[in-house]
Amino acid sequence: MITTSKKLISFNSAAVHAGKRERDQFGSHIAPVYQSSTFVFDDVQQGKDAFQGENNVHIYSRLGNPTVEQLERAICELETFGLEDSELYQGMVFGSGMAAISTAIISSALGGHVIAQDALYGCTSQFLKEEAPLLGISTSFVDLSDPFMLEIELKKNPTTKLIYLESIANPTMTVCDIQLISEIVHEHHAMVMIDNTFATPYHLRPITLGADIVAHSTTKYIGGHGTVIGGALVLKKELIEEISLSKFRKNMGGISGPQDAFLLHQGLKTLPLRMKKHAENAMEVAEFLESHDAVEKVWYPGLKSHPQHKLSSSVFENGFGGVISFELRGGFNAGEQLMNKVKLCTLAVSLGTVDTLIQHPASMTHSVMDPELREQAGITDGLVRLAVGIEDVEDIISDLEQAL
Ligand SMILES: Cc1ncc(COP(=O)(O)O)c(C=O)c1O
Repeated sequence: MITTSKKLISFNSAAVHAGKRERDQFGSHIAPVYQSSTFVFDDVQQGKDAFQGENNVHIYSRLGNPTVEQLERAICELETFGLEDSELYQGMVFGSGMAAISTAIISSALGGHVIAQDALYGCTSQFLKEEAPLLGISTSFVDLSDPFMLEIELKKNPTTKLIYLESIANPTMTVCDIQLISEIVHEHHAMVMIDNTFATPYHLRPITLGADIVAHSTTKYIGGHGTVIGGALVLKKELIEEISLSKFRKNMGGISGPQDAFLLHQGLKTLPLRMKKHAENAMEVAEFLESHDAVEKVWYPGLKSHPQHKLSSSVFENGFGGVISFELRGGFNAGEQLMNKVKLCTLAVSLGTVDTLIQHPASMTHSVMDPELREQAGITDGLVRLAVGIEDVEDIISDLEQAL
């Protein structure tokens, strides 16, 4: 375990103040949006120094932008909250979660192998299976909740550079032992990358457990209001250098625009408040679903019946996030019927918004997957994913009750 220190302020207060910069010339309370594609140099020497990295002057917003950098600092502060050496880390913001994830995988695993968790968000899974191999990155998929499988896979693939998993897998809700995985992987001189979108730094900070790279779809809980598509990475500055990540982002062009970064930063300030309510509601909804006759099984790390409940209870703080998966007894047809009957819950494929979203992976997000592989990865025909919002929980439960 990495050493952590007691901070002067709580995580909640840190979220409210994260990313703050020095006073601007007008003393703006909220930092302005630097909606400018390029920046003006005082003279040729300043421009020359800027290109040679000898000053901190901004050049062009594909390389960096003050509003984007403010969000980068804020996310980094939250993901490294409590770490003694947090100043060694840096955030990098992207135009989408997939831009962050694909750029990090390409720059860290080029010419090598990636071992990924068997169940992952659909597009990440597709990228690793289809596009990454075209770029010379070989990939394999195993159940990383079993460290023995990881050891075998590492021995089979000596060129492994990266292990990729989600802190709570989408949509199977599997939780893996990040600390144990990091110890095993580091012995093999590879890196661990965790997509922390579902758990968020409010519940879990993978870097404190030994992970090397944390990724986010900030589209979800960080933004929180469903207004922006965005992504982020947090990792050590020296690792950014080592894998040339800034160059990859610059030349692949995946950085976020300033307006999106601004909106995401406003959302981030209320992350702890929202997550607290998402998690409290999700726990009650999960218990309700578990007791319902139409429901075969519920997956939520907070439930005692969850296969990794003990592990989750020992690593998660303040609850277990807002996403629940459940299996309907009626299979595929029951899934489709439920989608058409809900009234308060919104039928949409995202999560992390203040309102409750519901979706049926077999007919939506994971419909592109081979049905056999989908089944093997635990994404069955009757599986429903519910991203519990911050409405009053009684209203969410009564909507589900009438629809079930
Ligand atoms: C766990 C997870 N990671 C990554 C992504 C991709 O993020 P984005 O849609 O912002 O590109 C998603 C999208 O749903 C997701 O659920």
